[in-house]
Amino acid sequence: MSRIRVAIQKSGRLSESSLGLLQSCGLRFAKSKDKLFWYGQDFPVDLLLVRDDDIPRLLLDGVCELGIVGQNIAREVMLERNGGSGLEELRPLQFGGCRLSLAVPEASTASSAKDLDGARIATSYPALTRALLEEQGVSARIVELSGSVEIAPGLGTADAISDLVSTGTTLRANHLRELQELFRSTAALYRSAAPMSEESSTLLDRLLARLDGVLQAQE
Ligand code: PRP
Ligand code: ZN
Ligand code: MG
Repeated sequence: MSRIRVAIQKSGRLSESSLGLLQSCGLRFAKSKDKLFWYGQDFPVDLLLVRDDDIPRLLLDGVCELGIVGQNIAREVMLERNGGSGLEELRPLQFGGCRLSLAVPEASTASSAKDLDGARIATSYPALTRALLEEQGVSARIVELSGSVEIAPGLGTADAISDLVSTGTTLRANHLRELQELFRSTAALYRSAAPMSEESSTLLDRLLARLDGVLQAQE
C-alpha cells in the first residue's frame, strides 16, 4: 500500500493555513510536537514539517510527493536548480498572498526598475529577481542574503532590495519605499513533475477531489 508525503511549513506564515486545509480535507494526523513527521491516520497521507524554503528541493529530490509553498520560493528554486521546471503547480491556494517588490531608500530618486540598471540589489530570491529584471532589460548586481535583506541599504551594502512585501510594515520601519512590484505570489500545492506509481496517482486524485470540494466551498 503506497502512501503520499506532503511537506508543509513547520512554523511561519503558511503553517496554520496549510495544516488547516489538509484537515478540512478530512485528514487526521498522529502528531507529536517535536517530531517533523506526522503519520496520516485514516488516509495514507503523511506530513513532513520543514522550513518553507526547503520544500521545493524536497520535491525535486523525491523526498516527498506533494508540498505547500509560496509560488515565489517554488519559482526561485526551479530557476536555480532546474532551468525553471521540475515542479507542477496543482492548485493555487487562497492564503500566503504577498508580492516580491523592489524597494529603495526613501530619499532615492529612482522611479522605476529601469533606474536600477547596474545597481546593487540585495535579495533572498536571486534567480527570480534576476530573471524578472532581465525581462525589463535591467541588469542588476545581485547581493544574495538569506535574511534581513531590508537592512542592506542602510548598511551601504546595496542600493535597493527585492523582497516580499505583505503589509509594508518592514519597509516603513527601515525607511524604504516600494518602487515596483515584480511578482505576485500566493501559496500553492505542488507536486514533483517526476512520474508517480499508479497507486500513488490514484491516491493523489482522491486527495485532489477532496481538496477541490473544500476549495469550492471556500469561494
Ligand atoms: C517577508 C519579508 C519581510 C516581511 C514583509 O518575510 O522578508 O521580512 O515578510 O512583510 P510586511 O510587509 O508585512 O512587513 P517572510 O514572512 O517571508 O519571512 P522569512 O523572511 O523569515 O521567510
Ligand atoms: Zn521563509
Ligand atoms: Mg523576512
